[in-house]
Amino acid sequence: MLVLGIETSCDETGAAVVREDGSVASDVVQSQVKLHAPFGGVVPELASRDHLRNARPVVTEALARAGITAQDIAGVAVTCRPGLTGALLVGVEIAQGLAFGLDKPVVGVDHLVGHLLSPFLRFAGIEQPAPPEYPFVALLASGGHTALYRVDAPDLASIRELGATRDDAAGEAFDKVAKLLGLGYPGGPVVDRLAKEGNPDAVELVWPMRRRGSLEFSFSGLKSDVMRWVTKNGRPGNDQVLRDLCAAFQRRVVDTLVAKTVAAALAQDVATIVIAGGVAANRELRERAAARAAEAGLRLVVPPFRACTDNAAMIAYAGMKRLERGENDSGRLETSPRTSLPRVTSKGRGKRAAS
Ligand code: KG4
Ligand code: ZN
Repeated sequence: MLVLGIETSCDETGAAVVREDGSVASDVVQSQVKLHAPFGGVVPELASRDHLRNARPVVTEALARAGITAQDIAGVAVTCRPGLTGALLVGVEIAQGLAFGLDKPVVGVDHLVGHLLSPFLRFAGIEQPAPPEYPFVALLASGGHTALYRVDAPDLASIRELGATRDDAAGEAFDKVAKLLGLGYPGGPVVDRLAKEGNPDAVELVWPMRRRGSLEFSFSGLKSDVMRWVTKNGRPGNDQVLRDLCAAFQRRVVDTLVAKTVAAALAQDVATIVIAGGVAANRELRERAAARAAEAGLRLVVPPFRACTDNAAMIAYAGMKRLERGENDSGRLETSPRTSLPRVTSKGRGKRAAS
C-alpha cells in the first residue's frame, strides 16, 4: 500500500510517498523560509501563493522520486488543520482534485497527529532508533504548538492532551527572542548555534512556569524577561554576552520542556517518551532529554531532523492509518485553523512566568 501525502499548512510545501510499514519512498519539501525571512515571520498571503506555485511540481517530484505513477497510490492524505486557511486550502484542493481524477479515497489529517506519529517513519540510509511502543508520552514542540500528549494508538480518539502552553509555543519563543536580538528568522537554529558557545549561568533570567505538578507551559514571561534585559543592558553585539544570553534563554526553555515531559511519562506510567516538532532539532534539548530519560529509566525516541520539521511523510503515514480503516473524506474535506485534538489548557489563563 502506497499513500501520497500533501502538506501545505504553513511555510513548507511538501509531498511524500510512504509505504504501510512507515518506510519513506520519497519525501520532497520546498521551504519558503527565504520568502518570509525579510518580514521576520510568515506572511499568510505570500505563503498561499507560493504553495499554489509549488504544489504541483512538488507532487510530481515526489511520485517521480518514488518511481511510481499516480495510479499506483492507494489514496491521498492531506493536512486539513491546524494551519493558515489560505495555505491549507491549496493542499486540500490539490488532494481532492487528484483523488477525484484517480477515483481513489482522500483523507484529511490533523497536522499535530502527523507530528506525533513522525517517529514511525523509516528513512533509507539514516540511522534511527526503533519506533516507540504504545502507549507513549510525546512532547510536541514546534513554532505554532507546544503540548504534551499521551498516545495510545495511531488515531485521534486515542490521543489525549496532558498539558499545553498557555501563551507562546516554544519555537515561537525562540523566534521572538531571535528577532529581538536581531538574529533573523527562524530563530531556533541560530540561537541553538550561539548557545553552544555561551554560559547558561552567566545571565539571570526567570524560569518559565516551574511549578511542580503542572504540565502546562508558559514562555511569554521568559521572552519578556529577555526584553527587559535588553532594555536595561542594550542589545549585545556579536560577542560573548550574546552567546551567554542565548545559552541562558535556551537552558530555561529546554529544562522546562524536559522536566515536564519526564514528569508526564512517570505520572502516566509509560515506558517511552517521544520528542517531535521543529524544536526537537535543538541540540541541547536532545542531549538533556536523553540524560534525564536515562536517569528516570525511560526510553527516549527522537525522530531524525527531517521528520521533526514540517514534512508530508508524516501526513502520509497518519493518513494511511485512516485509509487502512476504510475511511474516506471525499467531498467532505474542510479546513480549520484549530487542531481537532481536544484541548485541556486554556490560552492566557493564570499567572504567567511563575517560577
Ligand atoms: O515543526 P516546525 O517545522 O513548524 C511548525 O509546525 O511550527 O517548527 C518550526 C519551529 C520554528 O519556531 C523554529 O525556530 C524551531 O522550530 N526550530 C528550532 C530549531 N530548529 C527549528 N528551535 C530550537 N532549536 C533548533 N535547532
Ligand atoms: Zn509542524
